[in-house]
Amino acid sequence: MQSPEPERLVDFYVQTYGMHKCQVPTLAAVAPGRQVMATSGVANQLHYFLYSLETDAAWSQFKQRAAQVPQAHQADMSAFAELPADAIGFRDPDGHCVVFASASALSEDALMSSSTYNTADQALPPAMTQHLGIRTPNIDAMVTFYSEVLGFVVSDRVHDDQGQLRACFLRTSELHHALALFGAPVSCFDHQSFEAPDWEGLKQWADHMGDLRQEIVWGVGRHGPGNDVFFMVRDPDGNLAEISSEIEVCSADRPMGIWKHEERTLNLWGKAIMRS
Ligand SMILES: [Fe+2]
Repeated sequence: MQSPEPERLVDFYVQTYGMHKCQVPTLAAVAPGRQVMATSGVANQLHYFLYSLETDAAWSQFKQRAAQVPQAHQADMSAFAELPADAIGFRDPDGHCVVFASASALSEDALMSSSTYNTADQALPPAMTQHLGIRTPNIDAMVTFYSEVLGFVVSDRVHDDQGQLRACFLRTSELHHALALFGAPVSCFDHQSFEAPDWEGLKQWADHMGDLRQEIVWGVGRHGPGNDVFFMVRDPDGNLAEISSEIEVCSADRPMGIWKHEERTLNLWGKAIMRS
């Protein structure tokens, strides 16, 4: 994440999300299954975001697809010293850098390896980095890029009364979404989510926020698309950070869903942040 105050941002994630601070070489907050890195820059913008391919077969299949991506979308990876040498990066239509690497290469990396940080706060339940959300003024082009060029699968679309696409949830595995795109006037980071194993775990995380006097700014609620229970807090830069659980597990033949653009879609239990 870019930030005008990277140290302050990382300190927030260290405290609020029970992580450890380190710098190898990028300033980061890390814990098993979750990492947040921060570099100097503009608030609410990403330096890059990273997906790992869990099996060698998936990685080699993805590399074949990556070779077909037009040159205009290829990203220069020379500036990302902390990533494996064979990581592949692209520029999406909004200019975000999205990076892919194999889990096996990442496990050999000092920063990325969960096993390096198996001393996370044992009082807190696990919470794995599960998805991120981006606001975009070019949602149709963004959905086309991630689905047709990179091979993400559209789980659900949200349409307004004029039939315009207003939000879209795309998956990379059986879990309902790994990327959420929200139509908005500006292109920026919206949130990242850490997935707790169950509802009990989410409750423990909410109590942890209460103990810290960290205000929950949205939720507890349940999203329509994805059916995940969730709450969100805001980091010092104003980014949302989510704890979620119970996200829908999709079969390969699950039909794509269409939802109405209304508060109830984004929160079956009440109020929603509509982004636009
Ligand atoms: Fe989310």
